Amino acid sequence: MSTSKNTDALEPKRLPRHVAVIMDGNGRWAKKHGVTRLRGHEAGAKAVRAVIEACRAIGGIETLTLYAFSSENWRRSKTEVSGLFRLLSKYIRLELDNLNAEDIRVVFIGQTKGLPKRVIADLEESRELTKNNRSMQVNFAVNYGARAEIADACRAVAEEVKAGRLQTTNIDEESVARHLYDPSSRDLDLVIRTAGEMRLSNFMLWQASYAEIVVTRTLWPDFRKRHLYSALREYQARTRKFGGRRGR
Ligand code: IPE
Ligand code: IPE
Ligand code: MG
Repeated sequence: MSTSKNTDALEPKRLPRHVAVIMDGNGRWAKKHGVTRLRGHEAGAKAVRAVIEACRAIGGIETLTLYAFSSENWRRSKTEVSGLFRLLSKYIRLELDNLNAEDIRVVFIGQTKGLPKRVIADLEESRELTKNNRSMQVNFAVNYGARAEIADACRAVAEEVKAGRLQTTNIDEESVARHLYDPSSRDLDLVIRTAGEMRLSNFMLWQASYAEIVVTRTLWPDFRKRHLYSALREYQARTRKFGGRRGR
């Protein structure tokens, strides 16, 4: 199928405004190709570039969130973890000028605690350089866990109460939401998970409340523009009801 045909099939008015990807399957891809897990992660970095470019080209997608390293991924071997962080730094340094030239705003969501200093510096530099960009926002979820994010937000709410700026009786969803790692990002419309697992793996539990979930068996390093279009078409075929009776 040609790419233009793929794009034509999308309804521009019904595009998801916030898309996230749980980029899974690098290890399985490496195994399939008889290479090291780290080579699998390297191949995954190419898919990151392709998907950011595709989202930018479609237009209408305001925010793309990419799950790069979970708060549970520390359970992997030291070699894999340090390899992943080296790769992340390399990716940011290689891509930052491109992202900036594309008017893309780069945001980091996750805990900095525990991250290598180099990674923190690279993420900080990319945020600073691109903060006024307007075409699209890309959130990199690094050392990210949804439970930790919600617990951190609760702590911030408690601090507001302690400081006398908020009454406990006035605590509502908005009080928590404004302390999430990126309060400016809207709720998720679409979560894409590659490599076939039917789970969220501690990803954006708050923001994904009413997200549509599309799981593809395609391994992340093989994921390209056409797979993105296919996920977007599946999203557009869904009926979103938000607990009501009518589709939206
Ligand atoms: C996703 O690929 C990358 C990270 C979680 C960092 P995996 O490394 O989880 O790949 P599989 O699940 O072993 O195939
Ligand atoms: C989820 O993938 C995390 C990222 C893609 C960064 P995992 O491979 O860590 O998830 P589980 O362990 O299979 O649930
Ligand atoms: Mg995995």
